[in-house]
Amino acid sequence: MTHPLHDHLPKHRFDAAKAANLLDPKRRLIDDPLPLLHEMGIQAGMRVADLGCGVGFFTHALLQAVGATGEIIAVELQEVMLSMLRERFPAQSNLTIHPADLLQTALPAACCDAVLIAFTLHEVPVLAALQEMQRILRPNGLLIVLDWGEIVHCPEREPGRQAGPPEDERILPAKLRQLLLAQGWQITAQGQRLHGCHYWLNARPVQEAQS
Ligand SMILES: C[S@@+](CC[C@H](N)C(=O)[O-])C[C@H]1O[C@@H](n2cnc3c(N)ncnc32)[C@H](O)[C@@H]1O
Repeated sequence: MTHPLHDHLPKHRFDAAKAANLLDPKRRLIDDPLPLLHEMGIQAGMRVADLGCGVGFFTHALLQAVGATGEIIAVELQEVMLSMLRERFPAQSNLTIHPADLLQTALPAACCDAVLIAFTLHEVPVLAALQEMQRILRPNGLLIVLDWGEIVHCPEREPGRQAGPPEDERILPAKLRQLLLAQGWQITAQGQRLHGCHYWLNARPVQEAQS
C-alpha cells in the first residue's frame, strides 16, 4: 500500500527580536557564504530571488557572486528585517528589496534565473512555496535550498551550543527530495556543510515534453 505524501508544515517563524544574530560574525567564519554560493551554482550575471532573506546575510554575498551584470530581488515579510535591510543596502542599483510573503510574491512569472531559499523553507508550507518558486523561475531555472540537516555534533560551533530549530521542525533532505520529486522537480545536486548540520540541494522544474 502506498502512503500519502504529507506536506511539511511550519511551527514557528524566526523571531525578529533576534535579527542581529543573523549577522553574527561567527556565522561567516564557520561557513563563508560566497564560496558556498558558487558551489551551489550561483554565477555572474544571474537574476536571483533571495526568499526569506532576513537582514541580508546571503543577499550581500549574492550581490558579490552575480556581480554588476546580475540582479538580486530580496523578499522578506517582517518589517524589522526590512528596515535593517534598507539601512544595510542603501541605493544599491542591482538590488530590489521586495516586501512580500514568499508564498505569494507578486513577482512576474519566469522572472528569475535562480531562487535561493536559505534557512527559511522549514518556516513555510513547503508545497505552496515550491509552487510559487516554480512560477517565478524561468524554464529550467535553478532552485537552491539551504537548510538545517539532522542535529549532529559540530565542533566548529561553541561547545554545547545547540544551533537551529528542534529536529521535528526541520525539513530534512530525504523529505524534501520526496516532495520535490512528487511535484515534478528534477534534483540535480546535493551537498552538506559542517558535518551535515546544514545541507543544500539544487533542483530544476521538469520541462513539459514539446508536442
Ligand atoms: C531563519 S531566517 C533566515 C534569513 C536569511 N535567509 C539568512 O540565512 O540569514 C528566516 C527568514 O524568513 C522570513 N520568512 C519566514 N516566512 C516568510 C514568508 N512566508 N515570506 C517571506 N519571508 C518569510 C523570516 O521573517 C526570516 O527573516
